[in-house]
Amino acid sequence: MARVIVITGASEGIGAALAKRLALMGDALVLAARKVEKLHHVASECGENILVVPTDVTQRAEVERLRDAALERFGKIDVWVNNAGRGIGIRVLDLTEEQLDEMLAVNLKSAWYGMKTIIPYFQSRGQGHLINVSSVLGRVPTATFRSAYSASKAALNSLTANLRMDLRADYPNIHVSLVMPGPVATDFHLNALGGTPGGRGGQQIQTVEPVVDAIVSVIEHPVPEVYTNPASAQLVQNYFRDVAAFEDAWFERMKNQSR
Ligand SMILES: NC(=O)c1ccc[n+]([C@@H]2O[C@H](COP(=O)([O-])OP(=O)(O)OC[C@H]3O[C@@H](n4cnc5c(N)ncnc54)[C@H](OP(=O)(O)O)[C@@H]3O)[C@@H](O)[C@H]2O)c1
Repeated sequence: MARVIVITGASEGIGAALAKRLALMGDALVLAARKVEKLHHVASECGENILVVPTDVTQRAEVERLRDAALERFGKIDVWVNNAGRGIGIRVLDLTEEQLDEMLAVNLKSAWYGMKTIIPYFQSRGQGHLINVSSVLGRVPTATFRSAYSASKAALNSLTANLRMDLRADYPNIHVSLVMPGPVATDFHLNALGGTPGGRGGQQIQTVEPVVDAIVSVIEHPVPEVYTNPASAQLVQNYFRDVAAFEDAWFERMKNQSR
């Protein structure tokens, strides 16, 4: 039987592009997001074996309902992609408490709900693959206007690694992967809370296709984590080698760019 893959945030952007690619590969898909019309549009481009489940991933009960609907329709789930997320364009000192909560809800707690919902099922089966879509900003905070978004993705990176380490001894066939894109040409920057002031933090913008390539590669050959843009690995190495020197150089670069 075809693989069954659940994708959150499938109504547009990376999730929608991933759905269309996986559909071409013959996978059965369960597409989740809040905007039902957009979800159905994506589904119509994917062909058969597609289930649409309107889901707000900030609501735990809705994430559980998503799992149950997928199991009811297809009888199994092989891969669960926590892809839904939202950016922000508001610096640390300008954040309200509500905005901070919103970032944590949509980027961190949502993925934790996904983990709590799907991992026990994978454990009962002895296999499965969880993929959390994070961001390079969760590792190197180069776009300060993303503030609470970067922080929520940093926390997601940490939860993902901890879960992976917890499972490895008893569940060698359950994979937990982290995918970290840099800036991608979707409407993410428009959808961000407060928009996207002042560009995208100086990193090169990827088209969505190589990001989809990277996620498909992780599905086919599970690895702990991947940067969708190979240049990000060097950026991260430079950052952790010497944070002070990195910040000095980045500051100068941004100053020159804004001239
Ligand atoms: N694009 C980038 O530059 C970039 C860079 C690094 C990481 N990422 C990460 O990649 C993932 C996908 O981003 P994207 O570029 O595809 O962004 P996007 O085009 O804005 O799409 C975001 C998706 O998340 C869904 N979503 C948002 N809030 C939701 C909620 N409460 N419940 C359910 N679904 C929700 C949206 O659907 P509805 O509005 O219909 O609910 C939409 O399908 C995110 O986790 C993002 O943080 C993106």
